[in-house]
Amino acid sequence: MEDSRKSHKPHCLVLSFPAQGHINPMLQFSKRLIHKGAGVTFVTTRFMSKTLHGLSSNPSISLESISDGFDDGGMKAASSREAYLERFWKIGPETLSELVERLISSGRPPSCIVYNSFLPWALDVAQKYGLVGAVFFTMSCAVSSVFYHCQKGLLEVPVRKQVLLPGMPPLEPQDMPSYVSDPESYPANLGVLVGQFSNLDKVDWVLCNTVYELEQELVDWFMKVMPFRTIGPTVPSSYLDNRLEQDTEYGLSIFQPEHDTTMKWLSTKPKGSVVYVSFGSVAELKIDQMQEIAMGLKRSNRYFLWVVRSSEEDKLPQDYAKETAQKGLIVTWCPQLEVLAHEALGLFLTHCGWNSTLEALTLGVPMMAIPQWTDQPTNAKHIMDVWKMGLRPPVDERGVVRSEDIENCIREIMEGERGKEMRENAGKWRKIIKEAVSEGGSSDRNIEEFVASLIDKL
Ligand code: UDX
Repeated sequence: MEDSRKSHKPHCLVLSFPAQGHINPMLQFSKRLIHKGAGVTFVTTRFMSKTLHGLSSNPSISLESISDGFDDGGMKAASSREAYLERFWKIGPETLSELVERLISSGRPPSCIVYNSFLPWALDVAQKYGLVGAVFFTMSCAVSSVFYHCQKGLLEVPVRKQVLLPGMPPLEPQDMPSYVSDPESYPANLGVLVGQFSNLDKVDWVLCNTVYELEQELVDWFMKVMPFRTIGPTVPSSYLDNRLEQDTEYGLSIFQPEHDTTMKWLSTKPKGSVVYVSFGSVAELKIDQMQEIAMGLKRSNRYFLWVVRSSEEDKLPQDYAKETAQKGLIVTWCPQLEVLAHEALGLFLTHCGWNSTLEALTLGVPMMAIPQWTDQPTNAKHIMDVWKMGLRPPVDERGVVRSEDIENCIREIMEGERGKEMRENAGKWRKIIKEAVSEGGSSDRNIEEFVASLIDKL
């Protein structure tokens, strides 16, 4: 074993939680590790690896899978979220250990496990085999800080009043991750999220998919309490520094994008004229919310491109697509990065998933924030008040944003003074983010330092 470890390259096992919002950033980070001289084996669950389109298309990344105990159906096959997590927490470490042993005996021993923060047990496996353990946070530094304070008992859950945390603006309950303002909604999830911090005193590295300059004060604070490094955004290189060959897309998708239909439609629209609407890969909207968005888009009389996943389609008003065909296109999934980078885009109506937020900041698109759950309210707060790149319309007593507020917000961003300010800020953030991942930028230096430390240990 000792001899085979003396290979010329460090070998990272990159272990992702089985969801699109986690696989995308971890796969992109893998490409950056390879660029800096590491080898990568990308690991997700057996069920997820069978589901993904395009995962095998990158020849420099080896693929492996472990079991979550539901190889034929994933999370949907479990009787509850609790049941899923309980089984995954038992079978996951066993099958990850088997994978490490198999790689060691086949002469490709890993030097390190970079694991998704949702899977803290991977650190025990890393330490059992004497490997470096690096936790990877796919959420913002701000959101991580909220869960960190919960785990330390410094934040009482549920949060009912304004909270002041280091390096952040004052947060009202509606700016908090949903599990913290409303823990009853998904008790199992709160456990996972707070559990991310349960063993960080033993970890070698804490890597976060954010940009130092976006959350500077907070990152400085984190760096004082743990070996914390920013490595983001994990957006494909062709949208940033262009140093990674052929890195033009994430290269995998749970859903099949309607690429040609979308891009052909966009290409016929004037510059800055289109409202793009997407709620990511997970969120299930209330039917009322769906109907208000439909009405708001119609009232605005703007062009719109709306991603409605097939599982959400029956919430649309009857005949809506037909009635609005002059102005709108509804697709079940689209190539979001290409869409955001298109000059026809004027506004992104988003649920504020962290990947979507980073993508919009990277590509300089102003946002209307309609967060649904989990980290999204905290991201919305930062989009509006810290980066000044969007507006969050109010919700009514049902927790729904009304069509007239959607219409007003579209007008304000696309025609008003606030929108003008956002477009000016867009250029500033775009430049800062590009510099961070370019040679010598903050994220580039951090990834370099990480890989160099692994090389030192060979
Ligand atoms: C989940 C959580 O919901 C989110 O809050 C958390 O921050 C990350 O994990 P998801 O809801 O899928 O993620 O949202 P987001 O983080 O925005 O990721 C969606 C990804 O899918 C983005 O990379 C986006 O580019 C891509 N996408 C989305 C498409 O490629 N096509 C689409 O039509 C819509």
